Amino acid sequence: MSFDILREIEHRRHERADLHAAHLNAQLVRVLRTIGYDVEYVRGEGQYLYDKVGNRYLDLLSGFGVFALGRNHPTVVKALEDILHAGLPNLVQLDVSVLAGLLAERLLPRLAGMDNLFCCNSGAEAVEAAIKFARAATGRSGILYCEHGFHGLTYGSLSLNGDRIFRDGFGPLLPECRAVPFNDLEALERELRKGDLAAFIVEPIQGKGVNVPADDYLRAAAALCRQHGTLFVADEIQTGVGRTGRFLAIDHWGVEPDMVLLAKALSGGFIPIGVVATRRWIFEKVFDRMDRAVVHGSTFSKNDMAMAAALATLHVLDEERLVERAEETGDALRSQLATMVGRHEFVKAVRGKGMMLGIEFGSPRRLALKAAWAALEQANKGLFCQMITIPLFKRHRILTQVAGHASHVVKLLPPLVLTEDDCRWIDEAFEDVVADSHRVPGAIWDLGRTLAGHAVRARAGAG
Ligand SMILES: Cc1ncc(COP(=O)(O)O)c(C=O)c1O
Repeated sequence: MSFDILREIEHRRHERADLHAAHLNAQLVRVLRTIGYDVEYVRGEGQYLYDKVGNRYLDLLSGFGVFALGRNHPTVVKALEDILHAGLPNLVQLDVSVLAGLLAERLLPRLAGMDNLFCCNSGAEAVEAAIKFARAATGRSGILYCEHGFHGLTYGSLSLNGDRIFRDGFGPLLPECRAVPFNDLEALERELRKGDLAAFIVEPIQGKGVNVPADDYLRAAAALCRQHGTLFVADEIQTGVGRTGRFLAIDHWGVEPDMVLLAKALSGGFIPIGVVATRRWIFEKVFDRMDRAVVHGSTFSKNDMAMAAALATLHVLDEERLVERAEETGDALRSQLATMVGRHEFVKAVRGKGMMLGIEFGSPRRLALKAAWAALEQANKGLFCQMITIPLFKRHRILTQVAGHASHVVKLLPPLVLTEDDCRWIDEAFEDVVADSHRVPGAIWDLGRTLAGHAVRARAGAG
């Protein structure tokens, strides 16, 4: 019988959780079953997912930010089909491909001050390259990062991770990596003055918590870095490619970086990709002689599929004005959601830029609510947000995430193609669930008790 992959999907889809439980990550399967997210999705289109009985879900998670264009954008699909059918001489290796050249030509002008492009296969790989490039360019070894930062989970990038849950049990990590508080120029300058830092690697808006810096922070940080001979590296892996209403988030503040890292949405969500853009002198320090022409690289980097998908993605961004739309729709959505502050006492703030939004919850004023909040926090810090995200999903078919471990922030990272109707859907869903969370006792707090039970059992090693 001939190989028919679609037939395989159709026939075996119902076994997916069992296959994963048996052969992949069984704990993830348990989590999905426990919180009721074990839906059999059969189709994705734009900002929507569809299950096998035709229910439509609004995806505000976007595959952790890769689907800025929405799923299965026809322009990217067509580019990939064309490449697949063209019989191209992909990955010759002892050659240079036109597609990578075109991507560099079209991407670099969008990244102020950047001259050269290095390609790889993921965000973490881009971070690893940035660490190596910074050390080679400056001759220094220290790397500075921010508390609560996230840059990936490979050893170099994990060494810049500001959250213990990711690091614990995996040490020792890369030496000479130090953390400073985000948004704190004095702390940054104190570290820079030590004179040993190759780079300061920072997310312009932190993904964990959706932390937006003060307006002067990133510009001043870049200036301080320059003054002290440290490279300023903007990790735009999550915030870049239009997500915040500018092509790069640093463009909100007119920051001039030494390196920019992109990945995730750059290939429209189809093919793994990562890139490091640098100033020319940095690149020339790394690739400084003919016998070092391949001193850093990766086998599948610059592959035709990733390059073509990225070129198509840039085309769609322009053609559909997605960067502008991210700002317009995102700002409208933020204002809409911000009306919850003051009306619902668990809601403390709504923040973010463009299509990267965080809704922060915190301890309420009323005594009865305060006691319920405190009991839940005691069981597991951050469970409250799951009491919001789970009903958003189950009652309203909206897929969202909690912005990190033990976080009080629910995060929205929607496709940039969101419509006014989608925003109404989001608004009504939040209104319903958040209002309900203020009813103690009530359905949402019953869920809270169940979640707390699971958390206690999991901590005891039984769950
Ligand atoms: C800011 C940032 N940097 C780096 C990474 C790592 O990217 P990847 O998961 O592609 O390795 C992520 C992933 O979430 C990210 O958000």
